[in-house]
Amino acid sequence: VAVEPFDLIVFGGTGDLAYRKLFPSLFRRDHDSQLTDPSRIIGVSRRDMDAKEFKASVKHALETFVPKEELEKKAVSRFLDRIDYVAVDALTDEGWDELKSRIADGLDRVRAFYLATSPDLFDAITHQLSKHGLLTPKSRVVLEKPLGHDLASAQEINSAVADVLPESQIYRIDHYLGKETVQNLMALRFANVLFEPVWDSAHVDHVQITVAEKVGVEARAGYYDHSGALRDMVQNHILQLLCLVAMEPPSAMQADALRDEKLKVLRALKPIDEGNIRTLTVRGQYRAGAIDGKSVPAYADELEDKGPSSTETFVALKAEVRTWRWAGVPFYLRTGKRLPSRVSEIVIQFKPVPLSIFGSAGGFLAPNRLVIRLQPDEGVKLFLMIKDPGPGGLRFREVPLNLSFADTFKGPNPDAYERLLMDVIRGNQALFMRRDEVEAAWVWADPILEAWSRMGQEPAGYTAGTWGPSAAVALIERDGFTWHEDP
Ligand code: BG6
Repeated sequence: VAVEPFDLIVFGGTGDLAYRKLFPSLFRRDHDSQLTDPSRIIGVSRRDMDAKEFKASVKHALETFVPKEELEKKAVSRFLDRIDYVAVDALTDEGWDELKSRIADGLDRVRAFYLATSPDLFDAITHQLSKHGLLTPKSRVVLEKPLGHDLASAQEINSAVADVLPESQIYRIDHYLGKETVQNLMALRFANVLFEPVWDSAHVDHVQITVAEKVGVEARAGYYDHSGALRDMVQNHILQLLCLVAMEPPSAMQADALRDEKLKVLRALKPIDEGNIRTLTVRGQYRAGAIDGKSVPAYADELEDKGPSSTETFVALKAEVRTWRWAGVPFYLRTGKRLPSRVSEIVIQFKPVPLSIFGSAGGFLAPNRLVIRLQPDEGVKLFLMIKDPGPGGLRFREVPLNLSFADTFKGPNPDAYERLLMDVIRGNQALFMRRDEVEAAWVWADPILEAWSRMGQEPAGYTAGTWGPSAAVALIERDGFTWHEDP
């Protein structure tokens, strides 16, 4: 469905995110006729260049990040017609009047300001927008992560932005919420009757959430070394996934109803601090190794000053949601860079049957397991015990009911940013984080970071291309479980 005409102003318009994700996503939506004329996209950065040069750089980005077969000449030129550029300095008054003169007049046009910049500039940019009269009731401000590096800095940013805009006009992006399979998690839970009755501590043994990456930090080392895996992935993406698994059914698929339920989960997370940090968390940092047979350097050697560093590139932890529904059910979370494969999945491990009526003849009855694969090979697998065919008596085998999205649904899988950008224009905040959610996530994450630092818990080394430090395996095996691996 086409969205109403808009002006989208991208701060950080010459940055990596804009070129890699935002412009390709907007191009795809335009190609699908979702952008209505006279919608325009204005790149903004400090760099002195004209619109022609900027268009050429956007064209280059499309050629780099969009598959060739999607780049029809007519569609590319229509998209480039929408592009403009203004050089603006967030910290001075330079360029703001010019920007104002390029944005369509009138109060009825959606104006979306996408802040794909360092969070240090969110305060300055939003105040400049206000000072120069650029904010209208139909304005939206989109804030990219990271939203601060701890609770205090997140509160500071949130308060500064709240000075000039109401919460209903603020869109905090967590791109995991825009992924197809993540939204499907809600469909699976709330559009089917099968799962909800067994979605609790009486039936679920434990939950695993893994977000594994093959890539290292490479060019992002400057940012990453001040962040680490807990801030970069757990505080936001992984906690959001955990919320969608653990939340109560919202009363409606409306932004605040959904966000109220996620907030309750975040507030129910069992605190991790100096008292339990060593048993509940594992930090790791990759050493030199090999991925797909290719040697890769150690994390420390990717830093500009060549380390050493005590930033974690891997974290595993055991979380608990202290609610009636989930009390006593461990949620094992892990994420890391330079792991053997790129895989993001959620595993719901159910309890064993209360009693086997088959005796020893049937063999071991593996408990049911629901695996929601977010990427790659998006899909859902429900592992069931099935009788081995044949007359040789009752023997059981674990076999998945396997829903592969690629086999079931033809056509390209849209990027998370495509969906989220269109939601900004539509004014739908359901897949964006509210202020209290972000802050509640920091309330849980801060004591972990503090405890690591106070207890001097340095990251354990792991060889690139392995599944993290051995302590991560021990973390789950101590409880009698293993990390899921597709059989
Ligand atoms: C980003 C992190 O938010 O998510 C990156 O900053 C990470 O470090 C990326 O690589 C992972 O996103 P995706 O969509 O590739 O799983």
